[in-house]
Amino acid sequence: MASEPTTVTITGAGGQIGYALLFRIAAGDMLGESRPVRLRLLEIPQGMRAAEGAALELQDCAFPLLHGVELSDDPVRAFEGANIALLVGARPRGPGMERADLLAANAGIFGPQGAAIGAVAADDVRAVVVGNPANTNALIAASAAEGVPGDRFTALTRLDHNRAVGQLAEALEVGPGELDGVTIWGNHSATQFPDAAHATVRGEPVVEALASRLGGLDAALRWLDDVFIPRVAKRGAEIIEVRGSSSVASAANAAIEHVRDEQLGTGGRTTSAAVVSRGEYGVPEGLVCSFPVVSDGDGYRVVEGWEFDERGRARFEASVAELVVERDAVEALGVL
Ligand code: NAD
Ligand code: LMR
Repeated sequence: MASEPTTVTITGAGGQIGYALLFRIAAGDMLGESRPVRLRLLEIPQGMRAAEGAALELQDCAFPLLHGVELSDDPVRAFEGANIALLVGARPRGPGMERADLLAANAGIFGPQGAAIGAVAADDVRAVVVGNPANTNALIAASAAEGVPGDRFTALTRLDHNRAVGQLAEALEVGPGELDGVTIWGNHSATQFPDAAHATVRGEPVVEALASRLGGLDAALRWLDDVFIPRVAKRGAEIIEVRGSSSVASAANAAIEHVRDEQLGTGGRTTSAAVVSRGEYGVPEGLVCSFPVVSDGDGYRVVEGWEFDERGRARFEASVAELVVERDAVEALGVL
């Protein structure tokens, strides 16, 4: 017997990532082929026509799993009964804007959306923030969502994770599925720490596999420091430069994989997600920080006990320090 439809709310649904998300979710890529979905599209009035157009096209796809599409510019209506929320709509940084301006603009979006989730979403709601600055927007939304446990809010670093896997797979000439244990630590920003120290390829440590290919351990560590880490951390900027606008299909794909693994489980493998810190690895409680995580199908859990070398620890701490600065900036705005 078909199960009750899962209500999925997507904010910024009329935007680029929204357009790349909707059809894949409706086709079953996110929750599997046995879970029907009901889509709720939240937009601001300026984005409503684009969202309406996407809704018409969804109808024209006649997806068997799709049990209705509703549009709204009111967060309370859009999040009513939501089981899953993808918070994509955000104000991007424009010319002449400072980080504090962006944080202020987005606080005005993610505070009310978090409050609406707290007020009207389903008891089992889980929300992932995609809109930048994703970690701190998730912190704002989680703080505003009264009655919703903090661990229901996460931010997307799966795109960075997939980028890291892609770079390693190319360097080692293996399939991406043969790698495990790759991790993104910290913020979804250029300070993030993409880490291969615990990664394995076909069960062999990645660092050893790189050393065999590159002519020794020193060469492998140099490649990780000078090529891999900056390439992954600055990939968003590279995509903007080459495409002329920020990543879309890869971001939507990462968001779908993030929710799928959170809801259906990681099958014993690790992935990366930014979750509300409970003090793991010395990260101040409450910050939304990226860690290695696993899921049994009931939310992400941080994998603890992994060790850093001195340089890795310094990189991680620098990214966490940036998260503290962002949190302090929104606190100063009176948002938290
Ligand atoms: P876009 O400009 O194409 O779309 C954003 C949409 O959000 C627009 O349609 C806009 O009308 C809507 N919107 C703005 N404020 C809203 C609000 N208060 N409520 C509902 N909708 C609102 O942008 P995009 O390319 O789809 O990117 C969306 C966000 O995702 C950006 O912040 C971008 O930087 C971020 N992003 C994050 C990652 C990641 O890995 N975390 C990757 C790529 C992009
Ligand atoms: C990305 O990582 O592609 C996005 O966060 C967009 C950006 O601004 O880099």
